[in-house]
Amino acid sequence: MLIAQLSDIHLDGVSSLQRLDRVLRWVAELRPDAVAVSGDLANNSHAANYAVLKARLEALGAPLLVVPGNVDSREAMREVFGGPDGPLNRVVEVGGIRLIGLDVIVPGAAHGDAAPVLGWLETQLDSGGAPALLFLHQHPFDCGMDQYETIDCRNKEGLAAVIEAAGDRVLGISCGHLHRPMFTRFAGVPATLAPAIAPMGGLAADGRKLPATDPPGLLVHHVKGGNLVTHVISVSG
Ligand SMILES: [Fe+2]
Repeated sequence: MLIAQLSDIHLDGVSSLQRLDRVLRWVAELRPDAVAVSGDLANNSHAANYAVLKARLEALGAPLLVVPGNVDSREAMREVFGGPDGPLNRVVEVGGIRLIGLDVIVPGAAHGDAAPVLGWLETQLDSGGAPALLFLHQHPFDCGMDQYETIDCRNKEGLAAVIEAAGDRVLGISCGHLHRPMFTRFAGVPATLAPAIAPMGGLAADGRKLPATDPPGLLVHHVKGGNLVTHVISVSG
């Protein structure tokens, strides 16, 4: 079971589409079993850009899970990709795994908030069922990069409690937002942050600051025998 996670596409014109297409050519060769998109799909002209993106993603022929990011429009996403009223929380079941998308955006803000989705997530995880991989946009963990700690997903303690209560039914949690691949732990499970398809962000930590040198990329989550291994893929020109 291979789940391709694309993130931070930031469609806003020709060069963003070229970067996306370069990555999608690699993804098409992979033939993933599912595709998850963890937010920041388009910067502007939301409905039109989402329609362009949806056509490209559907051409991959895999089940699709999409969650919004801070630059997205919930209304336009609902219009193009479908979804419930209110937060665009989603579940996609594929190959004995549940992909759970959490809509933690706060319209008009860069940070997210898990509080409004906790009850819904608890219900999903309470029902037993297949092992789950969670996707959201803003990072629910301390990333260690000072300038980004304030644009995190708030109420992470509540989110951690819900995940911890689910025990080993949660395989991992993965986000986007910071345009850098990162690996840590959150609520006792592996926590990852996907590289961006838009330009990557540099590393700034403990007083050191370096510009980004990485090409765009994605994560591929490989679930086999109940074990999760996450691969980082960079797609150079
Ligand atoms: Fe973002």
